[in-house]
Amino acid sequence: MRLPSVPKTSAPDTSLLALLPEILAKARLVARQALRDALAMRSVLGPLPVARDSFSAPHSPDDPLRFQSPPARACIDLQANTLVQGDNLPAMAALLGGPDGGPSWRGRVDLIYADPPFASQARYHARKPGDARAQPAFRDTWRSLADYLAMLAPRLVLMHDLLARSGSLYMHLDPSAGHYVKVLLDAIFGGGNFQREIVWRIGWVSGFKSAANNWIRNHDTIYHYVRHRPAQVFNKQYIPYPSEYRRRDGQRPSGPGYPIEDTWNCSPLDRMDSIQLMSFSQEKRGYDTQKNENLMARIISASSHPGQLVADLFGGSGTTAAVADRLGRRWISVDCGDAACRIARQRLTDQGAVYGEARVLTGTRPLQNSAACGCAVCPGPVRAGSPAPGCRCADAGSPAPGRNDWPSPAA
Ligand SMILES: C[S@@+](CC[C@H](N)C(=O)[O-])C[C@H]1O[C@@H](n2cnc3c(N)ncnc32)[C@H](O)[C@@H]1O
Repeated sequence: MRLPSVPKTSAPDTSLLALLPEILAKARLVARQALRDALAMRSVLGPLPVARDSFSAPHSPDDPLRFQSPPARACIDLQANTLVQGDNLPAMAALLGGPDGGPSWRGRVDLIYADPPFASQARYHARKPGDARAQPAFRDTWRSLADYLAMLAPRLVLMHDLLARSGSLYMHLDPSAGHYVKVLLDAIFGGGNFQREIVWRIGWVSGFKSAANNWIRNHDTIYHYVRHRPAQVFNKQYIPYPSEYRRRDGQRPSGPGYPIEDTWNCSPLDRMDSIQLMSFSQEKRGYDTQKNENLMARIISASSHPGQLVADLFGGSGTTAAVADRLGRRWISVDCGDAACRIARQRLTDQGAVYGEARVLTGTRPLQNSAACGCAVCPGPVRAGSPAPGCRCADAGSPAPGRNDWPSPAA
């Protein structure tokens, strides 16, 4: 169950503002260290299959960069679609370093959608179809808001580095931490590259959500930033005029419709209620924090062109990947959770997506690179659900190693 989404201290966290410069400075160090780690591993990156050999973990719990994750390797093709299981910090560092000894992805990603944990102090679940039992998906519990920001900030630095000059970031948050994250984003992207604060009205709330003796909370916030304002890709989006609509002179309107504002799902013409409120939504995959496909379609259509590369570094159930695939974009989706990746894999398989898979494993665990069949040797992307030609893998379908009931490697 979701707990109240405010910082969990009895007194206002007045020191947090003063901590932001330190959080940011440390984030830059953590990001740089993650990149150094990825580059150091590059010399041992080879073509698939990757041997399950020893990986040492130069990670020390006493390391002052305490949010640094151990180095990782990833085998990912810039031209293909990829589902990655693992912590997004080493995953992004590996991309920036040049996965598989290939070119660096620095400045190669056209659009990033990020829907991280919101600092809600809650645990989230996944449910299999027809099975009421809940499986842990991820936890969003933090000792303090400062800890949460310290987790997120280095990831924001790396997202900025991945973005193309014409690229956009859409950062999905809520009032729990959103305003502090916006301050960090202003510092990382430059305030001049902030575009819009989009208010997404969640939908008609009822039950316990409407019981508060207060204004009923009913929106998330999506911060839109661009890497370099003059270069940004933006395809203006419209809500079509209703068929009965006439201008004052009685004529049918010309033009595509009403230009979409920065408040979404706030008029009868713009229906975008959260699927979490819709009992019978066909989109639902049983993931507590799954977002709407129409939300993603709007963002992807506005801020990328067909053929461009869309990344979701907190990919969850694969909503961004699924929509990007259908809209003809290339994509990469990263998530550290078993349940999230299982659902995303099934979802992409169901829609016939063509993609490869990689795993970022940390510490002494080896990187396991797999194709969509789940095996460790299939080279490159294959049609989802079917083994690559010549696949000789004995462990097809084997579960991911290193299971963690409450995956949150950054905590
Ligand atoms: C709010 S959910 C994303 C939901 C997604 N937009 C969807 O439609 O399903 C946040 C996700 O971030 C993942 N996550 C949290 N920390 C992560 C990390 N350090 N690296 C990768 N994924 C992470 C969680 O496992 C969770 O699935």
